[in-house]
Amino acid sequence: MVMRRVRVGVLISGTGSNMAALLYASRAADCPYEIVLVASNNPQAPGLTLAAAEGVATFALAHKGMARADHDLAMDAALRGADVQFVALGGYMRILTPEFVGRWEGRMLNIHPSLLPKYPGLHTYEQALANGDTHAGCSVHIVTTELDGGPVVGQTPVAVLPGDTPETLAARVLIAEHQLFSRCLADLVTQGSSPEHLAAQVRERALALPETDEVVSHGMPCFGIVKGKKFAYVSLNHHGDGQTALLVKISGLDEQAMLIEQDPARYYRPAYFGDGWIAIRLDLGDTDWGAIGDWLARSWRSIAPRKLTGLIDVADQF
Ligand code: GRF
Repeated sequence: MVMRRVRVGVLISGTGSNMAALLYASRAADCPYEIVLVASNNPQAPGLTLAAAEGVATFALAHKGMARADHDLAMDAALRGADVQFVALGGYMRILTPEFVGRWEGRMLNIHPSLLPKYPGLHTYEQALANGDTHAGCSVHIVTTELDGGPVVGQTPVAVLPGDTPETLAARVLIAEHQLFSRCLADLVTQGSSPEHLAAQVRERALALPETDEVVSHGMPCFGIVKGKKFAYVSLNHHGDGQTALLVKISGLDEQAMLIEQDPARYYRPAYFGDGWIAIRLDLGDTDWGAIGDWLARSWRSIAPRKLTGLIDVADQF
């Protein structure tokens, strides 16, 4: 089977040595991602020249004189234009708008030269030295609206040596960064197609609905009203099809046909379930989890007894 690599865009502002580390790691045959775009707010960023020489598409747009929101929109358009699925920030020295962060929620990583939550922001080496830390280090985290504050997915401590200056320390931390970033990115992009991870995402949302529980049905995680009907199944490699999909209830054959026609790569008619159900692929790498939550809620509502849907209706009014 030919491996489809996950498409990654890297945003840089300067040297781009982390971008280069990601790029060269991606040259390994078993690397699960490829770098398809390197974009910068600094048209002079040396990393752009390197990326271009290595045959990677580049995009540059100086932020000077532009509103932050407009600049972010242009960067976002470039990423989407290149069919980017995940974003890596490698020394991208811009504060991002919440809108931009929101559009890449859970799919954007940043590398930071400290052991977060210690020393967010700038001058991390100076602080580690001034505080007499035995170790500095680097962290990779999911980007949220809080600066250097999202969930940490990987860290490498780097020993402080006698006589270290911020420069000597930074140089060694950078070596650790180059190792760490690619590993974290590879983990993140493969997590999205891991059946266990996808089932856990569904579970979290399904069990958040009132009075629901989980059982296993024909090897599938299955969610229903306690002692009542089922409203969702997760199909895991059914008959070896290699796919992970969510099965939810819909209004019937017409809707089923319409969805499949609309997006035949994502929707299919689940075998043995009939007209009242639709299967939604979860493993395409671009799953909109908000929409999945809505599908689950709708499916739940279609089978939930009055006394439960009534409760939700009342809650919705507040
Ligand atoms: C690195 O120290 C990184 O941790 C920080 O910015 C620097 C970027 O360096 N976020 P480079 O451009 O990747 O060489």
